[in-house]
Amino acid sequence: MCGIVAYLGEKEAQPLLLEGLRRLEYRGYDSSGMAVLNGTGLHLLKKVGRIQALSALAEQTPLHGNLGISHTRWATHGEPSDRNAHPHVDATGKLALVHNGVIENYNSLKKRLISEGHTFTSDTDTEVLAHLVGDHFVKLPAGTTSRLERAVIAALREVQGTYGIAVVHQDEPGILVGARRGSPLVLGIGTGEHFLASDVSAIVAYTQKVVYLNDYDVVTIDRNAFRVSSLTKRSAGFEISDIDFQQADAEKGDFPHYMLKEIFEQPQAIQNAIRGRLSHEEATAVLGGLNLSPQELRDVDRILITGCGTALHAGMVGEHLIESIAQIPVEVDFASEFRYRNCPLDRRTLVFVVSQSGETADTLGALREARRKGFRVLGICNNVGSTIARESDGGVYMHAGPEIGVAATKSFTSQVTIFALLALLFGRMRHLSASQGRQIIEDIEKLPAQIEKILGQTERIKTIAAKYCQAHSMLFFGRLLQYGIALEGALKLKEITYINASGYPAAELKHGIIALIDKNTPSIFICPQDSVHEKNMSTLQEIKARKGPVIALATEGDTTVESIADDVIWLPKASDYTLPVLSSIPLQLLSYYTATALNRDVDKPRNLAKSVTVE
Ligand code: M6R
Repeated sequence: MCGIVAYLGEKEAQPLLLEGLRRLEYRGYDSSGMAVLNGTGLHLLKKVGRIQALSALAEQTPLHGNLGISHTRWATHGEPSDRNAHPHVDATGKLALVHNGVIENYNSLKKRLISEGHTFTSDTDTEVLAHLVGDHFVKLPAGTTSRLERAVIAALREVQGTYGIAVVHQDEPGILVGARRGSPLVLGIGTGEHFLASDVSAIVAYTQKVVYLNDYDVVTIDRNAFRVSSLTKRSAGFEISDIDFQQADAEKGDFPHYMLKEIFEQPQAIQNAIRGRLSHEEATAVLGGLNLSPQELRDVDRILITGCGTALHAGMVGEHLIESIAQIPVEVDFASEFRYRNCPLDRRTLVFVVSQSGETADTLGALREARRKGFRVLGICNNVGSTIARESDGGVYMHAGPEIGVAATKSFTSQVTIFALLALLFGRMRHLSASQGRQIIEDIEKLPAQIEKILGQTERIKTIAAKYCQAHSMLFFGRLLQYGIALEGALKLKEITYINASGYPAAELKHGIIALIDKNTPSIFICPQDSVHEKNMSTLQEIKARKGPVIALATEGDTTVESIADDVIWLPKASDYTLPVLSSIPLQLLSYYTATALNRDVDKPRNLAKSVTVE
């Protein structure tokens, strides 16, 4: 949600900033801009629209200089426009600032600044912050430390809300200041150069060494050195980490879209999720990162899973897996609800927060609320070093590699796989026998090859998508473990095609949804040969009796489904526990090809951003 890139070094800043913004475009893409400092002062370019529009402007009027800040925006305050695009400048026009987050008390600060003679040209909260920092800058005396740093610290002490910022000032041309609270910011350390970025994908081409800044950190950078101070503590510690992927991992390669590439990466992603985590000997999963002793694992008598969007759907599948395999009661809650709901939790409840990015504001809020109440919180994250990963008491990394497409795909199947591992581990601490454990391990290990097999049906799925792409709405049905998959299938379709879609537990059809069935409303029915197959067949007949077209996801060789449904996508024979991973894949492909048939911008759907770092 908004992306920041800043550079200070010996090279020309503009090309590095533009390239970095292109890599962060998935975080927001309604407008962008940059400010570059050189011997003649501060120079700005801003443009509504995609980064491409800013690039075109930069080609006509290039900015030269070795220090610059830049931003790609996902609008919160003020419509997408040139004037609301970042960077914003202060009253003197000498300071420029980019910001990711929301300044909650911007109205009162703005009123005060207006009463002191400031005038504003945008509708944003960010411009208020730029003026506030600038105001402190002019009032502060020169000293032995950077005046810009001191001005940033003084301003942020007055601010309520969230921010990741990068700031430059014409009067301190060799200094770049960054700070964060609630929005991610990473310092990249090069040779004779430094970077700031919202996420490492923007800078991985230039350095592998980074510092993941903590909340309330302020970093002051010159070409050769940096200093991290804290708004709340006397001194701030930092750790230099290595980025865990290469630039090539974040490239599209020969695929037309990141989403398709990431769908096809799933055999590898699942392999990464299970590598070294299955013990045949002990017939269990090995998840050292949980930081729980066998006794502590044994003592858990309730689990709460929370997250947003796709991550929440993975949690819903996780609920079924843990309850049926380990017999531990599980509750799943929207992170955005949990953080304000004040729900009673049992003392021996273990909390899981699920997040691909590890930066989702609502999920982070839920994590902090649960920890504040004294609960042990474990994270299931993909981004190493993300805030959720760092603030959790332990957890499991997905190791799915960078996911750039706004629509989550491989992160979802990785999350579901990790829940299967957790269910196995908890099960083996309880009643699950070694032979049952071994059977689950065998089933999990088959997943990569089974996914490959499903991917082999891509052309068939593309044809089905073309047949139904003009529908105005679609219904997704599944039961038990497949209900979460139905919800996820519907979310995927909505996100990237803008077709109205909803997911239901199949038997709910007769309780109202059946009123929606007609010849123009396709139903996507997930009905593999599992424990509720026969029940599903009755529901399938009820849809067909009302002339509703049905695309079924069925187990290969299922002639009953084949004879009822209009179109069938085949799933390999698999256990109930691993089927949810498998049934997700055709639904992702169906959404993808429906979107491309409708000419949608698959990797950057309207109004969305990959990482939702505001409430
Ligand atoms: O990074 P997270 O997993 O925390 O993101 C949560 C949701 O914002 C995310 O899953 C969203 O629903 C995706 N766009 C779904 O494709």
